[in-house]
This record gives sequence, C-alpha cells and structure tokens, in this order.
Amino acid sequence: MNKLIRNNRLSKEELLADETIYSQANGFLGTRGTFVEGYGKDYEYNQTYLNAFYDQYDYFYEENFSGFPQNGQKFINLIDGQRMDFIVDGKALNLDNCEVLSLKREYDLETGVTTRIIHYKTVLGKEFILTERKLVSAKRKEVIALNITIESINFKGTVKVISYLGKSRKKSLNSKDPRLHNGISKHLNIIDISEANSLITVKTSRSNLYLNTVMIHSNPFDVDLGKENLIGQKEYLISPNNSIKITKYIIYTSNLYHKDYLEDSKKIVKDLQSIDFEQLITEQIGYFKGFWKKAYIKLTNNEYIESLLNYNLYQLNCSGGESEFHNISAKGLSGEGYEGHYFWDSEIYMLPFFVFTNPQKAKNLLMYRYHTMKEAKEEAKNLGYNKGIKFPWRTINGEEVSPYYPAGSAQFHINSDIAYAIIKYFEATNDLDFIVDYGFEMLIESARFLTEAVNYNGDHYHLNSVTGPDEYTTVVDDNYYTNQMLKYHFSYVVKFYDKYLKELSEVFIKLEVSKDEITKMKEIAEKIHLPFDKDLNIFTQDAAFLKKKKLDLALIPEDKYPLLMNFHPLFLYKHQVLKQADTMLSMMLLDFDDESILKDSFNYYEPITTHDSSLSKCIYSILAFKLKNYDLACDFFKRVLETDFLNVQKNTSHGLHVANLGGSYLGFIYGFVGIRITEDYLKINPIVTKDIKEYELNIMYQGETINIKVDNKVNISSTGNVSLKVYEKEIELNGNYQTALKT
Ligand code: BGC
Repeated sequence: MNKLIRNNRLSKEELLADETIYSQANGFLGTRGTFVEGYGKDYEYNQTYLNAFYDQYDYFYEENFSGFPQNGQKFINLIDGQRMDFIVDGKALNLDNCEVLSLKREYDLETGVTTRIIHYKTVLGKEFILTERKLVSAKRKEVIALNITIESINFKGTVKVISYLGKSRKKSLNSKDPRLHNGISKHLNIIDISEANSLITVKTSRSNLYLNTVMIHSNPFDVDLGKENLIGQKEYLISPNNSIKITKYIIYTSNLYHKDYLEDSKKIVKDLQSIDFEQLITEQIGYFKGFWKKAYIKLTNNEYIESLLNYNLYQLNCSGGESEFHNISAKGLSGEGYEGHYFWDSEIYMLPFFVFTNPQKAKNLLMYRYHTMKEAKEEAKNLGYNKGIKFPWRTINGEEVSPYYPAGSAQFHINSDIAYAIIKYFEATNDLDFIVDYGFEMLIESARFLTEAVNYNGDHYHLNSVTGPDEYTTVVDDNYYTNQMLKYHFSYVVKFYDKYLKELSEVFIKLEVSKDEITKMKEIAEKIHLPFDKDLNIFTQDAAFLKKKKLDLALIPEDKYPLLMNFHPLFLYKHQVLKQADTMLSMMLLDFDDESILKDSFNYYEPITTHDSSLSKCIYSILAFKLKNYDLACDFFKRVLETDFLNVQKNTSHGLHVANLGGSYLGFIYGFVGIRITEDYLKINPIVTKDIKEYELNIMYQGETINIKVDNKVNISSTGNVSLKVYEKEIELNGNYQTALKT
C-alpha cells in the first residue's frame, strides 16, 4: 500500500488546510498537524481535542422566543503540550525568523505517523534540518507522542530547547463564518499545576469536566512554573556530527473516560517511561494492519484514486465511534468547525463504513443516540409535543443546540435518518438483540413524535413547517425527503411489530405499544403525501418548491460561493436553489428504481444544486452511476475524494469534512460495487469504468467476511453462509462464486 505523500510546498494560505490534512486522531483524542515550533507570531494555532470534552456557554438572542436553546456547546481546545522553541543565537527557528530551504511532509497510513522535514536557514546563515515525527497512539488512547531530531548543517554551538505545557495560543478563524463558533469565553480553569510532576489539571467552566495533562521528555528537562503554563528548558550542544534527539509524550486523562483520571494518568506515565517512540510505532503497525485488512480498497493501476480513497477511510476511522458515549462530529477531531457537534452526518453518511468494516463501532454510534433519549424526550416536550422523542439537529451532550431553527431544529427528518440507520445496521448484521434491547425503542419513540407532527386532511397525511436536508430551502410543507423517509421508518415499525411479536413482547409492555398505535402508523405510512409533478415527471422537493423562481447559477461569480457566505437566507429561500442533495438523497438511500422518474429528477435537481455542502456530490455520483452516466459519476466521485485534499469547499481549515469521507466510501461501494443492503439479501452489481478497471475489497455482512474482486470477471467469496443478489441473480453463498462482468 502507498504512503500518502502530500507536497513539498509551504504556502501560508494553505497552512491551516494542511493542519487539517495532517491531523491525527484515535477516536478519542485528536490533534491538528501544526508545527511544534509554531509558524511565528501570526500563525500560532495549536489545537488538540478530546471527543465530547465540551463546555457550555450562553446564547444571546435579541428576540428570545419560547423554546429556543439557551445554551451553546463547544468542544474545547485542550491544554497544549506540543509547543517547543528551538533557539539559536537568541532567536527561535520558525517561519518568521528563518528562510525555508525545503519542506517535505508525509502521512504514513500503515503507522499513522506523520513526518515533517524542514530545512531552516537563519539570518546569520546557519542551517538546520528539523524532523518532526508525530503520532496519536491507537492503542494508548490518551497519548500523543512527538519525536524531534535537529541536525546541523554548518553550525557548532548551543541550541536552547524550550518545551511548554499550557493553554494553546490560538488565533480565531473568520468570526463572520456561521459554520464557526464566534464567542470568546473562558472554558478551562486551572485547578492544579505542578512543575514537579509536569502536569496541569483543569476543569471546564460549566460542564463539570476535568482534564489532566502531563508532559514527559525522553531526557529530563528543568521545568519551571510560568504564567498559567509550565516551561521546560534544556541546552544541547550541536554540530554537523552531533544531532539533537528528543521524544516528548503528552498524556490526557479526563473524568469523561476515566473513573479515576488522576490515578490512571500516573499509570500511563509510568508505562511510557519504559517505552520509546519506535516501540509505539510497532504498536501502531499492529493496529493498522488489523484495520486495513478489513477496510482497504485496492485499485489496480490508479494510485491517485486509491491513495485518496484510503486516506479518507483512514481519517473516518480515526474520527470516533470508539465508545457508546460519544459520536463523530462533523469535523471529527480535526478542527473547530461546527464546534464539535454531532449531526445526521453520522447515521446517513458515516455509519455504513462502520457497518461494513467494524459493526461494533456502528453499534456504538447508535448506542450514543440511545443514551441521549432522555434529552430527545425533553426536546419533544420543548417543541410542544406530548409523546415521543425528537433527536437534536446538532449536539454534543444530547441536548438540542441549534440557534437558527430554520436550518436546525426544523429538520425533523433526523428522527427517520436515525431510524434508517438502525434498520440498515440490523439488516446488515442480524443483530436482533440490539433491536430488542435498544433499537425498537428508538424507532417507536421517534415515530411517536412524527405521528403527532403529521396532519390529516381527509385524504393524505401532511407534514407542515419542516426543513429537509437542503438548507437553502427551509420551513416548508411536505418536504419529499422527510415524508419518504418517514414512510420507510413507519413501515419498519409495523414490520418489526408483526414479525418479532414474540421477541419484542416485553418491550411492547414496557413502552405501552398498542395494536391501534401500530395500525395508525401503518395508515400514515400508506397515506403520507409525496408531492409529484406530472408534467415534469419528478417528485417535487416540497409542496411549494416549483412555484419559486430559479436562481441562475451561471450568473453568480465563483467567489460568491458558498452562497450562504454571501446572500441573506431569505434571498436564497425565495429561489429554487439547493445547497445539497435532498429529493435525490432519499432516492439514493431507498434505492428508488423507476428509471424514468429518477432520470428526470436528476436532470431537474442537479443543475440547481450548488453542492455548497460537502454532503452532496457523493449522492449525485452514486445516482449518476445508477443512471449509467459514468463520466459524470466519476467526475463527482473524484471531487468527493479530493474535497479536503484540494480544499475544494474552501474551508478545509475548519477541519475534515467527515460526512464526505463517509461519502467517499458510499461512492465506491454503492457507485462502483453496486452494493445495497436489503431485507432479504445483499445486492452486488459491480461495474468498472475506463479509469478503474480492477479492484478488490472486503466487507462484513451478517458476521461473515465477503471478498469482492472485480477485473474482467466478478469473484466473490464468503467465509460463511450469506444470501446475495448478484446482477439480478439470487445466490446462497458459502465459498466462491464467479460470474462475468456486466458492462
Ligand atoms: C449541511 C448539513 C450538515 C452540516 C454538518 C451543513 O453544511 O447543510 O446537512 O449536517 O453541514 O456537516
């Protein structure tokens, strides 16, 4: 497999995007790819995060309407332990003080280690090569390790190394961007700081979370107390024959994940004292070997696509899903965009990757929702409902925190999105225990809320004043996506009720599920209105969508995108213009197969979609594959893969677009391999294109591993019994199956 080599460029504009690309995480702890020595005074931006380690702050509304969330939540930039200064002739080696003769950066996907080699020349002509290797340990979830080497080219003398532990020096990104938090509050309060133990303990201001951070060095440093930080110092003699080598570990423990976070910290520190950086790399290799065995997608003769695709899967895997008590934020652990909030991104875009490569993680993500049902119940009440639960549009601790309801809380589809994920998880794993113990409860409670939400007009059921996935059209009647997903959701509640009467009998008693209630849900599923326009032969995005005028996207200059940054929402709302796939998304998820409607809908919606959200192109790519428009499909697919790598959305600095990372996987397995999970079997309809002619991957399905290899034939093998449908042919597989490739 290929190591991913990025580039040798050094552009100040792209530094923040590169920090994201080189970010590292282990699902709990994540850190950005900053330079340990910083960039100089204008560009300090060290950021490290712990999943779900957040604080709250007050929202301030000039017009504070009833039921608006009163508190924001944001995940916190932790105590930074990575910063080091390397001082020569009284000046630190960094971009401000030195000329950079070369830079090389590399991300090794087999070890999770990033390497940066930078050649500095000081104003006095002294040259140094600084090599920084960094890892966030996959095995020791609390540990970040840095390994620094400084070689001198032409200097003999002293280098003073200062190593810090303290609050991160951070400059705020563009505060006018609604996708970023823009308040400044004090979130971390130091409750203990000890130079003897090189530790700082902090407590969050409002959420009552504690964090202990320790730094240790391979060669002991003299550590002094600074102003709210610890400063370790050491002088080294350097010469062309004698380089400096330092390994530094930073250890984070929190009451969020540890019963006794202070005691556990001591144990981890003790263990690390006998372990060097190379041993940590060996551990990493073990972990990633296991990961790649399940997840690697091998493409023959297309290294570029292969490395981007696998890089995206790698980053998705590192973003979370490790515990039942946190989820995966829109930016994973790689940046502050969307304040570390969890969205529907998890269930619709990210979860399938885990279902097929690590079902336990998929279950963890769903269990997180289960553990936040209490808050979802409160939110239903807050919205004026008597029954059921309303999952939050955005949250960390389970409480709704959308301050802008039209593109937030009004997205009622989140309930059916989570239901959809539960159903697909179940179909792909056969985990009936999960449905009995947790899944059905979520399905019915979220359906109860929607049952109360719909209106009956004597003919059809309608859902009024809701927002679909497209955030450039809000608070509408009968959003097709929402209604269609509700139909699917409700039909499965009915199906589970009928099919697992015995297994679920205790659950029905506990939740007071009655036959009448189920009959009502069945009726709603049958009679929910799905707006359709006969002349255009398309499902319309909502009841009034076609009455609006189209926005001529060709007239809008390139620099006015994303539109949300340049146009008032009301201007966007009065037009037929989409931020992202909406009607088309439900057609993809539910495998809509009336080709004529699908084609007409695609041709109608695609030209009015800006793809300003990164959740869009992957969906259009999959549908273009389905419509056999392979050039367009591949074009979208490539842009999806490049999203962060080439900063396509222009905000990679905010963090990785993690839903889009999941979209890369969806694009491949739904687009190329033609996989769909159904109630009875797994559909597989592989295709090849002119650029991707051969590939191989493994997926987990109902406890078995299925290997799919496509070249001029299709070879499928399974470790045990599975029901498949390969190109319209149903097969019971246990062993190997081969068939001709259909073109
Ligand atoms: C999209 C939402 C998405 C959110 C977080 C927004 O730009 O419109 O659909 O959930 O980003 O990724």
